[in-house]
Amino acid sequence: PQMQPQMLTLKGRKVLITAGGTIERIDPVRYITNDSSGKMGIAIAEAARDFGADVTLVAGRVSAVLPDDIRIIRVESAEDMFQAVMAEMNSSDIIIKAAAVADYRPAVRHDAKLKKKDSTLTLELEKTTDILEEAGRRKQHQLLVGFAAETGNLEQYAMDKLHRKNCDLIAANDVSAEGAGFNGDTNILHLFDRSGRVAEWPLLSKREAADRLMALLAERLQQRPS
Ligand code: CTP
Ligand code: CA
Repeated sequence: PQMQPQMLTLKGRKVLITAGGTIERIDPVRYITNDSSGKMGIAIAEAARDFGADVTLVAGRVSAVLPDDIRIIRVESAEDMFQAVMAEMNSSDIIIKAAAVADYRPAVRHDAKLKKKDSTLTLELEKTTDILEEAGRRKQHQLLVGFAAETGNLEQYAMDKLHRKNCDLIAANDVSAEGAGFNGDTNILHLFDRSGRVAEWPLLSKREAADRLMALLAERLQQRPS
């Protein structure tokens, strides 16, 4: 008999998502962070949950409400997020890195509050670990999805990140486009895999974009031998 086409589901699958910005401390009362509401990552976590997945959300600094029916690991710095992702990645089937990770952190973290002194202050910054790149190095069976917020040549930057970080998919958005910037409730995503551009979605709510992303990933996972 003819097989029924399989329903798109993520039942029995583990999905690991990172969301929000990281906080890199200068001293006990000051830090460096970046623009990120966490809304895209939270929307993805909710979409994955509704596809039946077993979801873990690694959340940095977010300005949106975190769902209370999803397993959440709170982190502060890029280093904390790195440790959490490394600990969770082996048991995951899909890893989606929607977090806005700081690229640099203060080279020295002062234990006491810095006092006002000279007319200028120089902060030395050092690179953080690239979590996605390290996940790309260590991944085995996992589908690895990165994000790329760009201005300018979206395709070139997205494809460069896809290869450099050994991702299966990059979700890129042009942050200079109306409705696709940070902090909003909408996004315009372009998806790239090794073959190039695979989807270009119109302006959608972050939740709708997340649903489409999870449908695409569920389909790709089903095509893979598990
Ligand atoms: N990323 C990460 N760890 C970092 C920096 C970035 O895991 N230390 C991840 C982001 O979560 C995102 C992807 O890498 O999924 C792309 O982030 P992006 O900032 O666009 O790329 P970078 O490689 O940091 O390059 P640049 O900021 O110069 O564009
Ligand atoms: Ca960056």
